Amino acid sequence: MSDPWWKGAAVYQIYPRSFCDTTGNGVGDLAGVRRHLDHIADLGVDAIWLSPFYRSPMKDAGYDVADYCDVDPIFGTLDEFDRLLAEIHERGMRLLIDWVPNHTSDQHPWFVEARASRESAKRDWYIWRDGHPDRPPNNWQAAFPRGPAWTWDDATKQWYLRLFLPEQPDLDWENPEVVAAMHDTLRFWLDRGVDGFRMDVIHLIGKDPRLPDVPEELTKIPTVALHDDPRTHAHLRGIRRVLEEYDHEPLMIGEVFLLSTERVADYYGRGDELHLAFNFPPLFAPWEADAWLGHLEKAQAEIRSRGAWPSWVLSNHDNPRHRTRYGESLARARAAAVLLLTLEGTPFLYAGEELGMRNARIPEERRVDPGGRDGCRAPIPWDATALHGWAGEPWLPWSRDAEETDAAAQARDVDSVLALYRRLLSLRRSSRALRTGTIDEARVAGDVLAYERRAGDERLCVAINFASEDRALALAGDWQVRIASDGRGEGRAFAGRVAPDTALILAPA
Ligand code: NOJ
Repeated sequence: MSDPWWKGAAVYQIYPRSFCDTTGNGVGDLAGVRRHLDHIADLGVDAIWLSPFYRSPMKDAGYDVADYCDVDPIFGTLDEFDRLLAEIHERGMRLLIDWVPNHTSDQHPWFVEARASRESAKRDWYIWRDGHPDRPPNNWQAAFPRGPAWTWDDATKQWYLRLFLPEQPDLDWENPEVVAAMHDTLRFWLDRGVDGFRMDVIHLIGKDPRLPDVPEELTKIPTVALHDDPRTHAHLRGIRRVLEEYDHEPLMIGEVFLLSTERVADYYGRGDELHLAFNFPPLFAPWEADAWLGHLEKAQAEIRSRGAWPSWVLSNHDNPRHRTRYGESLARARAAAVLLLTLEGTPFLYAGEELGMRNARIPEERRVDPGGRDGCRAPIPWDATALHGWAGEPWLPWSRDAEETDAAAQARDVDSVLALYRRLLSLRRSSRALRTGTIDEARVAGDVLAYERRAGDERLCVAINFASEDRALALAGDWQVRIASDGRGEGRAFAGRVAPDTALILAPA
């Protein structure tokens, strides 16, 4: 049996609000994504993951969905979506869309109806509890703002559960009508031809109807990072069966926000739950060789050992960009690209990282996100004009990157970060060892993390120097530099040293 497409794929995440505005309202839109498809195809990724573009009051920038089966007018129309999908497919790429199953917007007609009265037919599509207005029904904690995960509805004198904002009530997946309705939202997009879903906080959907308290000492931690109810696994198998009604191998990659690889691994089930799960502990790891060796070994021990396939991600729309986390160093960001694109598993890139973008500093009066995540959502600078290729002044300020560099300039520059990502992705495409091969001989020697990727007769060695000084690396046999993150010495013999903050891909000479 051949490998499924997503095993060897590299995926590019687009946060549509921040990508490119074509209408002049300062918010990125679907036409803006379509405008830059050549940039994405030339980069060499295999699939795009599009963060939410659904109808939404945008209290959580679209993760508060008011209609799962329509495009918010700020982003475009369903026709525009269909055009985008067709053009993605024409370029030989695939499209994953975000799916937000744990909660809806409080403006979703389901919740509007549920909230109307205790007798409403949709009341029990959400999680309501009696109680005293001063005492929430349990001690679960919301992600933002921090505090009880409950909102008191004064009109009907009950609490409703919401693990995020008050405007994001949690659906009750123990109700079969909810399950059926949510399955239909998947079919709606699968029928249109999407290639899979990134499933938002998927580990939250199963809930014990008794809603038991968490131990007192854990009440400082948002429940999203703790919740791990066995009911979710049955729901995942049900969702997987919906995807398997289609024969184009749709992918489900789940956001499992549990900061333990071992627990994340459970969400792959026995090959009948998620195809891929985000594993966030490495995203929170420091830029240190030993830490990364540990994560690589954990992925082997917990994920590969069960026949499942890891995923790797350094940046997304919820966390400071990795260049910023790694001390703003461009050299490290370049070395990190080599790491991300050579580990065993499916890599996820976040739009802008291929330009080496940093987090933007957002002045207080411009902050919009209730979760404080604006800095990684600054607009992508496409060119050197005043609005950097946007039709209107963007909803968030430009980062410093915009003044220094832009996509068009980097596309002309063979030494740019973009040129490095293109070389890396092109090598991945031509190398079975990098795409789906094994990872072997992983070790750390004096700040250098080294490993091999192998498939059949093909062998590549990767060496990443996490130190800011040059380091020796002894290798058996003769090797040649295929790619160097600093661009130096490519095509030459490897001389046994790795430059500061630099990563190399070596091939047998
Ligand atoms: C995770 C998403 O990535 C984040 O942006 C969102 O705020 C929460 N889930 C709630 O949907």
